Amino acid sequence: MEKDSFHFGCMMLFLTIVASHSLASTRPRCHEDERSALLEFKATVFTRGYPCFYADPDKPPKIESWNATTGETQSDCCSWAGVECDKVSGHVIGLDLSCSCLSSEINSNTSIFRLHRLRSLNLASNDFDYQIPSAIGNLGSLRDLNLSSSGFMGHIPNSFSNLTQLVHLDLSTLGLTGTTAPLENLTLLTHLDLRGLDQFGGEIPSSFGRLAQLEHLNLAINSLTGEVPSFLGNLVHLKYLSPAGNMLTGRIPPSLGNLVQLTSLDLSLNQLTAEIPSSIGNLVQLTDLNLG
Ligand SMILES: *[C@@H]1O[C@H](CO)[C@@H](O)[C@H](O)[C@H]1NC(C)=O
Ligand SMILES: *[C@@H]1O[C@H](CO)[C@@H](O)[C@H](O)[C@H]1NC(C)=O
Ligand SMILES: *[C@@H]1O[C@H](CO)[C@@H](O)[C@H](O)[C@H]1NC(C)=O
Ligand SMILES: *[C@@H]1O[C@H](CO)[C@@H](O)[C@H](O)[C@H]1NC(C)=O
Ligand SMILES: *[C@@H]1O[C@H](CO)[C@@H](O)[C@H](O)[C@H]1NC(C)=O
Repeated sequence: MEKDSFHFGCMMLFLTIVASHSLASTRPRCHEDERSALLEFKATVFTRGYPCFYADPDKPPKIESWNATTGETQSDCCSWAGVECDKVSGHVIGLDLSCSCLSSEINSNTSIFRLHRLRSLNLASNDFDYQIPSAIGNLGSLRDLNLSSSGFMGHIPNSFSNLTQLVHLDLSTLGLTGTTAPLENLTLLTHLDLRGLDQFGGEIPSSFGRLAQLEHLNLAINSLTGEVPSFLGNLVHLKYLSPAGNMLTGRIPPSLGNLVQLTSLDLSLNQLTAEIPSSIGNLVQLTDLNLG
């Protein structure tokens, strides 16, 4: 009896090992169309010589591990550096090519815009000296988009209004121009960073008043003019608000006193006048306040 149960135990252990082994090996491999889109992207980008400004000199560029020809495992794009696949479907859902010294002519035909299941795209800290292609609007599943310091310039394309699932959007330190940001329908955004855009001016767009989930809004170091709009006081989830370093005039709107979750408020380096409204005293969570 004891011997039987010992055998039974061994058998179960054996089956468990077999089962987990075959589970691991049946993890879906990447889909051929997505793999070829990635290889096509690799073929069109140009990797600047190392070391380059942002990259970690101890690591080879991620894209170098993308290889069509080497063994079974390596040719599965889900195993490539910077590529994340859905564990069930095997579709490519994440691409992180930040700090990769990439440079290329990127346009609406660029193959990464065919990866329309992407939930996360990080191209931060590269050197794409082109407009943001309007094909970005194909990536309607994106939750996180980071193009910070990636060299893009020009206007924010209207197709951004298609990215309605975005939660985090970082377009900071780009050569962006214009006075509008077609972001009003991105109502799930909690994090919006538009800091340090080259010639981003005009008034703070009234459409930002619709971004009711915002917790982090950074508009610092742009060319914004007009007053600090009163509607910012409706964005009651804000914890961080900075329109510092612009050309804003007029008074501090008393409505900012509604933002009781604020921990950081920076209005410095503008041309604000008049008294500090007493409602600022409601901001009991503030740890950083700069009115310089
Ligand atoms: C793929 O890897 C092999 C062996 O490591 C290498 O010789 C070849 O140049 C690589 N191909 C590409 C396209 O990087
Ligand atoms: C994209 O590809 C099409 C068809 O190959 C071509 O006509 C068009 O000029 C390309 N667009 C850009 C921006 O390269
Ligand atoms: C975007 O990428 C930059 C550079 O890697 C990083 O500093 C920044 O925190 C990222 N933004 C977000 C919103 O995660
Ligand atoms: C918006 O997304 C839909 C589907 O995700 C796509 O068919 C359409 O072309 C996109 N529009 C723009 C302007 O990118
Ligand atoms: C935003 O959504 C509204 C209502 O769905 C729509 O009428 C409007 O055209 C959208 N705005 C943009 C810029 O797509």
